[in-house]
Amino acid sequence: MSRRLHLALHPYGVGGPGQHGLWKDPGVAKNASIDINYYIQQAQAAEHALFDALFVVDSQFINSTYPSHYLNRLEPLTLLSAVATHTKHLGLVGTASSTYNSPFNLARRFASLDHISSGRAGWNVVTSFDTGTSRNYGLDEHLDYATRYGRALEFVQVARGLWDSYEDDAFPADVERGVFLDPSRLHALDHEGEHFKVAGPLNLSRSPQGQPVIFQAGVSPEGRDLAARVAEGIYAPGGTLEQAREYYADIKKRTAAYGRDPEHIKVFIHGGPIVGATDEEARRREREIFEEDNDFASNLALLGRSFGAYDFSVHDLDAPFPDVAHLAEKGGRTGAAKIIERAKAENLTLRQVADSVNSFRASPFVGAPETVADTIEQWFDAGTLDGINLAFRNNDDLNRFVDGVVPLLQKRGLFRTEYEADTLRGNLGLPVPGNRHTVERERANG
Ligand SMILES: Cc1cc2nc3c(=O)[nH]c(=O)nc-3n(C[C@H](O)[C@H](O)[C@H](O)COP(=O)(O)O)c2cc1C
Repeated sequence: MSRRLHLALHPYGVGGPGQHGLWKDPGVAKNASIDINYYIQQAQAAEHALFDALFVVDSQFINSTYPSHYLNRLEPLTLLSAVATHTKHLGLVGTASSTYNSPFNLARRFASLDHISSGRAGWNVVTSFDTGTSRNYGLDEHLDYATRYGRALEFVQVARGLWDSYEDDAFPADVERGVFLDPSRLHALDHEGEHFKVAGPLNLSRSPQGQPVIFQAGVSPEGRDLAARVAEGIYAPGGTLEQAREYYADIKKRTAAYGRDPEHIKVFIHGGPIVGATDEEARRREREIFEEDNDFASNLALLGRSFGAYDFSVHDLDAPFPDVAHLAEKGGRTGAAKIIERAKAENLTLRQVADSVNSFRASPFVGAPETVADTIEQWFDAGTLDGINLAFRNNDDLNRFVDGVVPLLQKRGLFRTEYEADTLRGNLGLPVPGNRHTVERERANG
């Protein structure tokens, strides 16, 4: 079968980073980010449109300047468990930090979601962007990059080990023989590594998709390496066509270098399509949205987030950008390095830098339905993406994409006309990982 496009929906409630004015939109309920019915409605719309997944991001640190959605939102696994009972085919991907969780607990929670949804769970592994999270977990400092990503790798390996605790035929539940469990099919993990010591076994069996699907988000060399080793999906920023192409090629190459099939890692780039009756109308709406979000104080706070929630307002706005590189060493180093580089190269003041973090950038996915479908096809064919993680301003924008663009993508054979499977793995075209103990025994038995 030819390569197919995948689509996920990324709900943003009352507004994520840079969406400073979204909460004022009359089409957005003021409590959207904490209303389970909002998420269920988003999920059902995504499922109606045959999307692969609902994708929920997360963080665990705020101060009063944080994006509206971040200030007051539901915990991803809790909300996805509720969404699971109102959907049948849609994948349910939740973001959870490998820095501020323990493997047994998190493996158990994702395995539970995988059962509740009959095989639709995905875990977006992040190492946490916000340095202040450490202080909510008894640590004075955020862990450094090498430790965070080393821990992330071992965390996923432990979780996968735990998810294989039971082989698929572990529970004969044979009343006549009086055998509920076949103990030869239950395996402890006895893991002792650099970061974790976990005995196992996990008290939960495998779901119809074997194990939850592992996603990853984080673009540093360390993040790319983690993805290449263990991820089956990636949430990537996208950027320009050239940047996306470089990233995609790099990820596929790194994945192959680890002896994995590059087809078994699906790169989803971020996309915020705006669809109008005409290209001009859509471009006008894009401008309008920019104006709604254009707020200097909020931009200054957003800039601070890349530097450990630093309060830049203590500096002279018209002096050169202050030397704060050390504040980003442990948090969002990759993004912060770009900001610092530009400020230096162009001799920018703090005000100019703050203006630029949320400045107007024409998105490629804006226009009449034909235009947006053409652009998606062009990017898909150019080797920049396997999927798009879609964020819409409000439900009208979502509907315009679903009603206008999706049928065109279907007509061109790029997007499905019905679900291929009931599991996230099945719809993404990812193999079900064999249980390691079953595989080992079958190999030993020839
Ligand atoms: C597209 C994208 C989405 C991300 N989503 C989250 C998120 O929801 N929560 C979070 O804590 N970090 C998120 N991250 C950040 C990662 O946790 C990572 O720590 C951060 O980007 C710094 O690492 P890096 O330099 O490898 O990108 C995201 C990163 C990217 C690129």
